[in-house]
Amino acid sequence: MKAEVDPKVIVYFNGEYVPLAEARVGILTHALHYGTGVFEGVRAHWDDDSEELYVLRPREHFERWKQNCGILRIEVPPSSEELCAITTELMRRNGFHCNVYVRPVAYKSAERIGVATDDQNAFAIIAVPFGEYLHGEKGLHAGVSSWRRVEDNAIPARGKICGAYVNSALATDDARRCGFDEAILLNESGHVAEGATCNLFMVRKGKLISPAVTDNVLEGITRDSVMELARRELGLDVVERSIDRSEVYCCDELFFTGTAVGLAPVVRVDYRPVQEGTIGPLTKRLSQLYFDATRGHLAAYRKWLLGAYHSAHAPEANKPIQSVA
Ligand SMILES: Cc1ncc(COP(=O)(O)O)c(C=O)c1O
Repeated sequence: MKAEVDPKVIVYFNGEYVPLAEARVGILTHALHYGTGVFEGVRAHWDDDSEELYVLRPREHFERWKQNCGILRIEVPPSSEELCAITTELMRRNGFHCNVYVRPVAYKSAERIGVATDDQNAFAIIAVPFGEYLHGEKGLHAGVSSWRRVEDNAIPARGKICGAYVNSALATDDARRCGFDEAILLNESGHVAEGATCNLFMVRKGKLISPAVTDNVLEGITRDSVMELARRELGLDVVERSIDRSEVYCCDELFFTGTAVGLAPVVRVDYRPVQEGTIGPLTKRLSQLYFDATRGHLAAYRKWLLGAYHSAHAPEANKPIQSVA
């Protein structure tokens, strides 16, 4: 997150709702030294028309989080439904009427020296006002990084494991210093994996193509949403397969997807324009569909949304629950 966060924002920490300024961990915390945490990123979009704050696919995010925590043997006790309820409660306690980013993080919390892990775990959920992550109205310039994406047998990229984001941080820092908006990482086999913080799609010969989930990518929820929109709304042939580096230089359209970036068009890669160097027609249509679906404007996709205030689409998770008061 780039912006400073107001220390008075209410967060969920150690089972309580407290101001951010009071949510503190000790200097010897295991996760701080060894990266032994697992995080998530969830978006909520404010819709003026319905005066509702729609949390986007929170159940899928919490289910992925709990699954990924299992890789590090971190248990997050509340159910996904209870975590949804904590999230909407945070929105209401903070009175958010704007776009929001939610950051759940679970971590090894023992305070001692030594890399061996034990069963001391903790988790927190932080929700902050959040605008655009990448400013991509005119399309982004992406650069292929000299850093390779972490391998599944080293640190699983599908895991959203805190330590693995050193890989993304190194690539992002290099990309920005070289004047790019975002890095594209290749995996050890030399195929395109993903952006530093997002999945990648290209359009070639009428097909929408994204690297396979076995190519060291995060199994993105936005990626999944965009695939559904492409198939159902545009009748596109969606293919998951390995992508060569030179294919992104020759493709018809290119874009990133992710919770933070949304759907972000890419118009140049390594100083080579993607076709005319303008945003492609399928990218524009998918971008509009994604916007409408995530703001509650498309009935078929309300299933993705959980309203924080008064929405009829927030049934179970908005009920007060005993265990997380
Ligand atoms: C490395 C990486 N790839 C892809 C994504 C996109 O995943 P999602 O759409 O689930 O946010 C993210 C975002 O969290 C990410 O950090």
